[in-house]
Order: sequence, then C-alpha cells, then structure tokens
Amino acid sequence: MAGLYIHIPFCVSKCFYCDFVSYGGKLNLAQDYLKAVKKESSFYDIAKPPRTVYIGGGTPSVLPLRDIEFLLKFISEKYGAGFEEFTFECNPESVNEEKLSLLKDYGVNRISLGLQSFNDEELKLIGRAHRAADFLRAYEAASKYFNNINVDLIAALPSQSEASFLAGLKKLISLNPKHISLYGLQIEQGTGLYERGYSYDEDFYVRLLELGYKELTANGFKQYEISNYAREGFESVHNINYWFNGEYLGLGAAASGYLKGVRYQNICGIEEYIKRVNEGIRPAASEEKLKGKAKIGEEVLLRFRYLKGFKPGVQMLKYFGGEFENLKREGLIETEGALLKLSRRGKYLANEVFRRFVEPF
Ligand SMILES: C[S@@+](CC[C@H](N)C(=O)[O-])C[C@H]1O[C@@H](n2cnc3c(N)ncnc32)[C@H](O)[C@@H]1O
Ligand code: SF4
Repeated sequence: MAGLYIHIPFCVSKCFYCDFVSYGGKLNLAQDYLKAVKKESSFYDIAKPPRTVYIGGGTPSVLPLRDIEFLLKFISEKYGAGFEEFTFECNPESVNEEKLSLLKDYGVNRISLGLQSFNDEELKLIGRAHRAADFLRAYEAASKYFNNINVDLIAALPSQSEASFLAGLKKLISLNPKHISLYGLQIEQGTGLYERGYSYDEDFYVRLLELGYKELTANGFKQYEISNYAREGFESVHNINYWFNGEYLGLGAAASGYLKGVRYQNICGIEEYIKRVNEGIRPAASEEKLKGKAKIGEEVLLRFRYLKGFKPGVQMLKYFGGEFENLKREGLIETEGALLKLSRRGKYLANEVFRRFVEPF
C-alpha cells in the first residue's frame, strides 16, 4: 500500500465556503472517534507499510494534545515509522509549540497550514477562525520544528482585489514555504457563501490564478499540479500517488480509499461512523470497481492533473483518441513531443476537460 489517509472531521467552526466533511462544536466526540479509527484499521489486512501518511480534515490540529498522541502512537504501532512523507494539517488558531513538538517526535515531517488569505477583512468574510497575525505566529512556530511546510491559499474570495491577492501572495512567498497550494474558490451548494448568493466574475477568477502562477514561478516555485506549487524536491509524494492512481487506505468518517482496484468512500456522520465501527461493520458507504472506459477515463483525468504531461497508452487512445483531438482543437490540451498535457487555458478550465472523461461520456 502506497499511502495512508486519516480524516479528522473536527473544526473550531465551519468556514462559509467549506464543503468538506467537517463539523464545528463536536470535539467531545474526539476520543471515541479516534478509538473507532484505530478499530477500523483492524478491518484491513495490509501487507506492506505505507510510504506516505496524510492526516487531513477538517482540522487535525484542533485535537487536544493527548488525542493527537493517541493517534500518532496508534500509527507508529500499527504501521511503523520513518515514512517517506508524513503530513499533518494544522490551522493557525489551534496549533501551538507543544503540539508541533509532539508531531516532530512521532516522525511527522511535513506541515500543511491553512492561511487562505492574508487580509483580515477577507478572512472575516469567509468565516475563518484566525486572522493574519495568528497565521504569522503559527508559521513561525512551525518553522522552528519543520523545514517542509505547505500553505493553502484561495483566490477569488469575497471583497478580494488583484492588489490584495498579490500583496498576500508576496508576503507569503517572503516567508519561504517550500510548498503553496493555490486554489480557486469553488462555490458549493449548501455552503454559507452559496446561500448568500456570492458569485465572482470568471475572468477575474482566471486573472487571479494567472497572476498567482506568474508570481510563484518567477520566485522559483514549480507548478506540478493545477493547484500545487513546490520548490524543487518538495512536491507532495502522497498527492502524486493519488494522481497516478496508486493504492491508498483511507480511514475515518468520509475518508475515501483505493485498494485492489476498488474505490470506496466511508459514511460521513461522525456518530454513525463510530457506531458502525463499534458494531464491527466496515463503514464504507459506497464501493466501486471501475471497468473499461470508465476506468481508463479516470486514469486520463488523474494524469492530466499532474501537469508534466503523459504518454497516452493504447487503451486511452482506443477510448478517447477522438476526445483528445477535440480538446486540442479547442485549445484546452496540447502535445509536447509524445506527451499530452493541459494547455495554459486548459489549466484554468480543467473541470471542462475532466468532464469529458467521466460518465456519461
Ligand atoms: C480540506 S481543507 C482542510 C484544511 C484546513 N482545515 C484549513 O481549513 O485550512 C484543504 C484546503 O482546501 C481548500 N478549500 C476548501 N474549500 C474550498 C473551496 N470551496 N474552494 C476552494 N478551495 C477550498 C482550502 O484552501 C483548504 O485549506
Ligand atoms: S476550510 Fe478547513 S477549517 Fe474551515 S471548515 Fe473546512 S475543513 Fe474546517
């Protein structure tokens, strides 16, 4: 098994844009939840230890110190130590030196910090629990213990201007993180922003992502995936495994996994998840073994995400040769030698490209 993902669905509060499975005000369930995660792991007979571990959320750093220790201890006892990459997601309002030092002691070697914006007004408008000063404190603390730090940013936020976006990005770059994830805001149904009718102009959205691309690449970052930029040698091994359709075990509420050609997704509710696991039932809500065109379509889509380009195999050409030609004509993909890749325009309109490779075709 190449990767292990553990989902921690607790947050201080729910951000207005967030569609991930995460809940504010449920931290009282943390201990039972982590025990259930440990029990869930016993449902899987894993032959080889994972190369990479990713603890994501939600907000893993919101867990109290003793619960973080319980989780890390369980991972080391069950899966060993010395992982090639071991990431722990942290939010500025809940991370501190005690927690960071514990993470370091247990072999975590990569921290992912959620900044989203450096502008306090923008942070307020998206319901973040932190402000820029909290981030700076958290970043400074994390830098004492870790060299490999990722920071998440979102473009096209309410009240954001080109100037505020660029100023924030420059400030972040000056702190010298090794990795930056720059997402374009997605307005998902059911989120606070959606309910309030927030929308942005698509040109503005593309302009900000282009500005981001220019600023980051001019400062030595390489864009290796649509939303991911890294300094040489700091690309995320765990994420690259996803894009190459590698196997991974997912544990926890809403976690997905991909084992022996089967993709599964666990149930989302925390209470229901705990109950099911304690009854000795595997908590997968859905399972799917992709076949034929659907399987190849998924491979194509994942490979496009990884921007280096790829050489389409016989099966890819058999099922999607015509689609590749259409997309080339539309200027959304291009060839570079024998490699196929998203074009500059295709990168920002990637969802339009991906749509062509998922059912209904
Ligand atoms: C799963 S979230 C968890 C990270 C962490 N809890 C946090 O909020 O910083 C991972 C990242 O996805 C991005 N994200 C979440 N919702 C988004 C949305 N609707 N549009 C764009 N990016 C989003 C944010 O940058 C976030 O940091
Ligand atoms: S963006 Fe992060 S902190 Fe905010 S609700 Fe989602 S998972 Fe929690």
